[in-house]
Amino acid sequence: MELAIPGTRERPCICKEDWAVADFLKGYDIQTWLESAPQGYLAGTEYGYRPGDREPEVLLEDEALRDQALRTTVQLVVGERCALAASSGLVNAAPDEASKRFLATQTLDEARHVEIFTHRLYALGVRKAELEDVLQQLANPNLVRFAELLLEKVEQKDFVAGVVGQNVILEGMAFNVFEMLHAANADANPKFAHILSGTIADERRHVGFGENRIGSLIREHPERKPDIERLQREMSYYMLATFGEQLRQGPSPEEVRARLAQHGETAPPVEKEWHGVRLGEASPEELEAALYDTILREFKIRLERIGIEYQTPVRP
Ligand SMILES: [Fe+2]
Ligand SMILES: [Fe+2]
Repeated sequence: MELAIPGTRERPCICKEDWAVADFLKGYDIQTWLESAPQGYLAGTEYGYRPGDREPEVLLEDEALRDQALRTTVQLVVGERCALAASSGLVNAAPDEASKRFLATQTLDEARHVEIFTHRLYALGVRKAELEDVLQQLANPNLVRFAELLLEKVEQKDFVAGVVGQNVILEGMAFNVFEMLHAANADANPKFAHILSGTIADERRHVGFGENRIGSLIREHPERKPDIERLQREMSYYMLATFGEQLRQGPSPEEVRARLAQHGETAPPVEKEWHGVRLGEASPEELEAALYDTILREFKIRLERIGIEYQTPVRP
């Protein structure tokens, strides 16, 4: 049997075990996934957190703080729904069996992420009947556009573009946002921090697969480089625009501290740092600059590893 050529839609995916690829991806097999995730860092969790943990009361009582938590969580649900649709679609676009099996584990990871972040929306007081309206209302249009672009590639069974869009751009960039959210919530909201730490561990595996598998495919198909670089430029714009807009919304750090004090809550220590920025007192602009710096530094390294040259995004 012949391998389907990655990135073409003319042929149905006639697949076979490619032993060289399977060997190369051995750290990404189902057995490793079972041992490290469900039987490892997720063991004993309930919707991603320690049973009994609760959202802080103040998030449920203070409208502005609740609103900010809802907006953030909605973007997580929208991003994870996109990753679920993409990873499941990519199973049928993958040119080898080992990649299909990895993407099957990723599909379950993404379905879990959709579930745990949706569960958080319910914990923050969203009623099940209003879930879709809340998502519609608060979803960032840039993130929605990103999802449309990515799912177009997946629908065309363009494996290379789909994996670059999902495992390198979406997950590579979101990874730093998850880490920043984790640092900001580690003391103030252990429940949310726990949900995030399991997600970060999953995403690290997804990004690793993307770098490994796509690196080898780009070397085999250098003719794909120009259109992948164009795609990176366009997709990165929508991701960065989403992060910037989300950070600029909601109460300032001073307002958050004042609101917490009103409810008799102690604010997290201002000296808590993330990449040199004091999370408790940084302005949205400072946070945005630190996030962009971190994202772009790590993103450029990832692109380099897969043989793609970073293209600065411009407004499409
Ligand atoms: Fe995810
Ligand atoms: Fe993921």
